[in-house]
Amino acid sequence: MDLAINLDRISTTPLYQQLTEKIRLAVLEGKLKPNQKLPSSRSLAKSLTVSRSTVTQSYEQLESEGYLETRRGSGTYVCHQIPDEWLQSTPIEPVISKTLVKSCLSQFAQNLTSIGNLQVSEPDHAISFRYGNPAIEYFPMQQWRKFLIRHCQQSPALLNYASDAVGYYPLRVEIANYLGRSRAVQCTPEQVIIVNGSQQALDLISRLVLEPEDWVAIEEPGYLGARYCFMGQRANLQPITVNSEGIDVSVLNKYHQKFKLVYVTPSHQFPTGVTLSLPQRIALLQWAQETNTLIIEDDYDSEYRYGEQPIPALQGMDRSQSVIYIGTFSKIVFPSLRIGYLVVPQSWISLVSRAKWLCDRFCPILEQYALRDWIAEGNFERHIRRMRHLYNLRRQVLIRAFQNYFGERVTILGENAGIHVMIRIKTVLSDDLVIQKASAVGIGLISAREYYLLPQHQGEFIFGYAQLEETQIEQGILKLSQILNQ
Ligand SMILES: Cc1ncc(COP(=O)(O)O)c(C=O)c1O
Repeated sequence: MDLAINLDRISTTPLYQQLTEKIRLAVLEGKLKPNQKLPSSRSLAKSLTVSRSTVTQSYEQLESEGYLETRRGSGTYVCHQIPDEWLQSTPIEPVISKTLVKSCLSQFAQNLTSIGNLQVSEPDHAISFRYGNPAIEYFPMQQWRKFLIRHCQQSPALLNYASDAVGYYPLRVEIANYLGRSRAVQCTPEQVIIVNGSQQALDLISRLVLEPEDWVAIEEPGYLGARYCFMGQRANLQPITVNSEGIDVSVLNKYHQKFKLVYVTPSHQFPTGVTLSLPQRIALLQWAQETNTLIIEDDYDSEYRYGEQPIPALQGMDRSQSVIYIGTFSKIVFPSLRIGYLVVPQSWISLVSRAKWLCDRFCPILEQYALRDWIAEGNFERHIRRMRHLYNLRRQVLIRAFQNYFGERVTILGENAGIHVMIRIKTVLSDDLVIQKASAVGIGLISAREYYLLPQHQGEFIFGYAQLEETQIEQGILKLSQILNQ
């Protein structure tokens, strides 16, 4: 049997260690299966042109870790009993060779390597309080199918290249009307630019605005998807405390550096859920105008408010073209639709359109046609009303369960809006231990710790509830309280 393994002979990592890592990875990725026989140390050494002791050292190491086993008189095998969950849960990080990075990759690529795991793989749990997922099983799929089919049958032209990078004009009209009605956003359809989700909006704006070492003010704690885009441009990040009124504008005023932009989630701060108060909104707009700073307003889940009136978007209050507004259909329709939008000042339209064209020419058209009709025929706002009702029930069950099982030991933040809450739990256990113990009883939890730039916070967790049945929510919080009360 041949093992295709490349060893980096310039690297400072010893060859036996590289070989050990590669074989371990091959086992974890399932490329080498349990009970599979490995080549003899002699033949592997020959094919890799390394010394035999390099291979034996590596085999011995993997044997001591339980990946390999020697069968007397027969040879070396992949261990026959590697637990399944071990095979799935190990994050498989591509090894990026330092020599390659230095020799041919751009500064941007090197910036990317300094960002942590973009997509954290979370093991499956019976009850996962993962945030950000809507209740996709309630999406009217049959109805959606009809809208897709309608356009598949009627509009063969939509199979061709689109003439406009900024999106299907009638969809932009619907979005502009909806935003005007429900969020007091002031824009023409031309100012609405369709993108592949808010993530693309954040990436495009970061690339258009930021130079290395520019300063960006971000909410503390804040959204990683935005932070990573700014890091990709090697910007300096300045965390600004979020208090009960949202980002603290008086703190912004204390800094002497020139900020290029400030990123905010005013209607439902991510992840604390605080709403930026009216006085703070006015102060932020004034500060942006005086300091000539761009505001990115990410309005990711403003549709879900329970009881209170939605607060109008910052964009609609802006008189100095300081605000770029971002919205998404990920939370209302479904995340894999990958349709979001930017609302940009008039003077930005052509620039953003060029950046979008260079990036991917335009977003897929069929879904834009279907979405346009789906909105125009009233289904979008009907679906929001229906989901708001469902999420409100789930939210109430979550809050009641916390009150019943934890009482004074928890503080619930941001429960009046969105589809997650942030919970402060009084416990002596570290976040990692809480997560581990919860995982052992089938509950997936996310600590808020990594959403802070400054290291300090323990005992804060983000609870997404939209995707969970009421009984799962109740059960999950009950089990959690049992673990933490032990
Ligand atoms: C603050 C924030 N913005 C935006 C998004 C949505 O991103 P996208 O439109 O790329 O799916 C999320 C998703 O969780 C979010 O938490």
